[in-house]
Amino acid sequence: MILDGKIVSESIYSDVKEKIKERAGNLPSLVLFCDEPDASNKSYMRSIKKQGEKLGIEVIVHDSEINPIEEISKMNNDKSVAGIMVMHPLKNADEKAVLAALDPGKDLEGRTVSNLGGIINDEEFFAPPTAEAVMEILSYYGIEVKGRDITIVGRSNTVGKPLALLLLKKGVDGTVTVCHSRSRDISEKTFNADIVVSAVGIAKFVHREMIKPGGIVIDVGINFVDGKLVGDVDFDEVSQIAAAITPVPGGVGSVTTALLFRHYTKSLERLES
Ligand SMILES: NC(=O)c1ccc[n+]([C@@H]2O[C@H](COP(=O)([O-])OP(=O)(O)OC[C@H]3O[C@@H](n4cnc5c(N)ncnc54)[C@H](OP(=O)(O)O)[C@@H]3O)[C@@H](O)[C@H]2O)c1
Repeated sequence: MILDGKIVSESIYSDVKEKIKERAGNLPSLVLFCDEPDASNKSYMRSIKKQGEKLGIEVIVHDSEINPIEEISKMNNDKSVAGIMVMHPLKNADEKAVLAALDPGKDLEGRTVSNLGGIINDEEFFAPPTAEAVMEILSYYGIEVKGRDITIVGRSNTVGKPLALLLLKKGVDGTVTVCHSRSRDISEKTFNADIVVSAVGIAKFVHREMIKPGGIVIDVGINFVDGKLVGDVDFDEVSQIAAAITPVPGGVGSVTTALLFRHYTKSLERLES
């Protein structure tokens, strides 16, 4: 089975449209700070802009000429801005200091210490949308997590670590293994898992021998090979043995962007309360 992220994202956008329809023409903006974006960030920003246009939400991109800390401090109290995103990595500014300046209520990507740490106590205002997108896809397709073994490859603050925490929540009850570049025997850990999530950033990192027949595979990776967008998983091989798999494009990425706009509506409601 192909786990189609576009179908999942359509259902999210339909809720988003419902929530913003009464405010059409009078919506606060979404602001992105970036400098020297890589290909993956460029593709993400393009998709945010495109969806913003469709929804009637202005997406403003600030480049490295602007001092992010000063601007963010002003925008935190500005009701005409509902969301602020700091593209990772920032090359010309101290990213931690920039994130520390950001109001967690406008941190649509769940990158502030308050939002990330909050996941532990179920107190996050926003969880990182990529990690949440994996949860959303599993839930949409009715894939059971409770008690099952999940191996995540990748331990970044935006994907691997928050996803592990979301899967470990009481009530979700996954049993999680997290691998990284220093892990040994990754193939064994993925082969033994019921669900494998790859968030590495290397094309064809996950190959057929790493997945047990009937396993579930979620591909978070965004890589460009000869100008073509591909994930981390060798889709042609792995799709022959997996019970379910997300494609790239059209998988986790589509849902991530949709969740960002769901977060936008949550911020909007907070601004109006
Ligand atoms: N679909 C989406 O919406 C979305 C959103 C965000 C990111 N992405 C994509 O997802 C991928 C990961 O993103 P990220 O921001 O998490 O990247 P990242 O910060 O570079 O993290 C990559 C992770 O992969 C691990 N890794 C690298 N090489 C490895 C190897 N040979 N064996 C095992 N682990 C290895 C790294 O280990 P160490 O920690 O030891 O270095 C690190 O934990 C990228 O392709 C990115 O473009 C997609």
